[in-house]
Amino acid sequence: MVNQWSYVFVLVLLASLQSSIGKPMGTVIDLDAYFENADGSSQERVVGGYDVPDDEYVPYQVSMQFLTKSGKMRHFCGGSLIAPNRVLTAAHCVNGQNASRISVVAGIRDLNDDSGQRAQVQSYEMNENYEELVTSDIAILKIDPPFEIDDKRVSTIDVSSSDLVGADQEVMLTGWGSVFHFGTGPFAKYPNILQKLSYKTLDNAKCKETMTQLTDTEICALERFGKGACNGDSGGPLVMANGDSLKQVGVVSYGTAFCASNSPDVYTRVSMFNTWIKERMA
Ligand SMILES: *[C@@H]1O[C@H](CO)[C@@H](O)[C@H](O)[C@H]1NC(C)=O
Repeated sequence: MVNQWSYVFVLVLLASLQSSIGKPMGTVIDLDAYFENADGSSQERVVGGYDVPDDEYVPYQVSMQFLTKSGKMRHFCGGSLIAPNRVLTAAHCVNGQNASRISVVAGIRDLNDDSGQRAQVQSYEMNENYEELVTSDIAILKIDPPFEIDDKRVSTIDVSSSDLVGADQEVMLTGWGSVFHFGTGPFAKYPNILQKLSYKTLDNAKCKETMTQLTDTEICALERFGKGACNGDSGGPLVMANGDSLKQVGVVSYGTAFCASNSPDVYTRVSMFNTWIKERMA
């Protein structure tokens, strides 16, 4: 029933663009058109989360930014740092995009903070099995220069685990996506401060009752009405505790057009891709 509302979180209002770059699969987002139509104050975030406190950083979180025709760098997707020179994100964030117009910023909680580190995307690789809203929405970016790891503002997140994460696990989502339910259009409200939300994973069979195209390469999370991922969170990390540290268990993939409306958020299940990721670290 909710299926026909299913949308990729990023910028789905846009007309698709045929591009000669890479081998696009499915919808390609026209970021030029998006940022030309967006006014300067429009920004997108996690719904129902809270600001990451002053002086606290989510050191593996990065902002992916697009160089607009007017020369501005604009946040459009999240990502996570998995090595000093590698970022993990969603395939739909880079599908058909020109890598030379994308840079990533680490070490910030406020998008207006210019004291973070910025690196240029050299190239990206989408998973070969990527199918929009179905499976394998995961990609790796090679960036240069490598980020300097300081373990306070900038560090990597562990993506090496192959353990299957079950239901009812406490997980944490972070992102600069819309903080209002209507993630796209005039009702989107984008924060500058990184938002954080703790919620729980959902059993895949249960999730599939609502998100009917779900496959076992994905993992869902759900809170009550009013909490969840939204536009602009795409590509960002879902993490959970692993002993004294954290591991990444999901990459924000898609949800419903009406964000945080009691429908699960769907993430790419990182543990299914640990070998694919490892092979691309060198
Ligand atoms: C990619 O973007 C760069 C920088 O804006 C530009 O010089 C180049 O022509 C673009 N490449 C393609 C294939 O559009």
